[in-house]
Amino acid sequence: MYDESFWNQRYDHPDYLYGTEPNAFLAEHSGLLSGPILSLSEGEGRNAVFLATRGLEVVGVDISSVALEKAKKLAESRGVEIKTIVADLGTFVPEENHYGSVVSIFAHLPTAVRERLYPLIERSLKPNGIIILEAYSENQLSRDTGGPKYPDLLMTIDKLRREFANLEPILLREVERNVSEGECHTGMGSVIQFVARRKHH
Ligand SMILES: C[S@@+](CC[C@H](N)C(=O)[O-])C[C@H]1O[C@@H](n2cnc3c(N)ncnc32)[C@H](O)[C@@H]1O
Repeated sequence: MYDESFWNQRYDHPDYLYGTEPNAFLAEHSGLLSGPILSLSEGEGRNAVFLATRGLEVVGVDISSVALEKAKKLAESRGVEIKTIVADLGTFVPEENHYGSVVSIFAHLPTAVRERLYPLIERSLKPNGIIILEAYSENQLSRDTGGPKYPDLLMTIDKLRREFANLEPILLREVERNVSEGECHTGMGSVIQFVARRKHH
């Protein structure tokens, strides 16, 4: 499917494929977030740099070393610091009870990877910690405005509810919105938006 060499080749280009401005849904809800923040599939750094600019400590994980090098450059150019980890989320183990927030923006992963990772993500949050996720929905398959071409990598409300069963949803909806976030995500898209909290006990 889309492996490490696919992503490294895709990013091996001077332009920022998803732009240098943050994801709109993340920016809108960023007031809910606290550090340290784990950003899954951070890519070229637009979201991590935005959060760092707001004074939050962020670590971005991505399978592509090329993307994370660009992320570091973007951070440097904006005068902030971010941490990066080159890792495959298929095997990555986040620290337990550690993060104030987890961010997952267009981090499209196969079901088998999500089913291993998401319980670890739930436990990586501190009590009351927040996850913010936006991903293309299965309804995006019929569109040509971005996102993976495999239903297994696309989201539905039911998948999210099932896969983050231990979190308390604050917002969970499917919307159509005009995504204008770099040359790879352009135009009307069907997305799932999710904000949830780790319960106290
Ligand atoms: C559509 S891009 C989104 C990047 C970034 N979140 C953004 O919104 O600008 C998807 C990202 O997932 C990363 N990725 C894909 N499979 C991965 C895996 N198994 N482990 C870690 N990262 C992965 C890719 O390298 C790529 O940066």
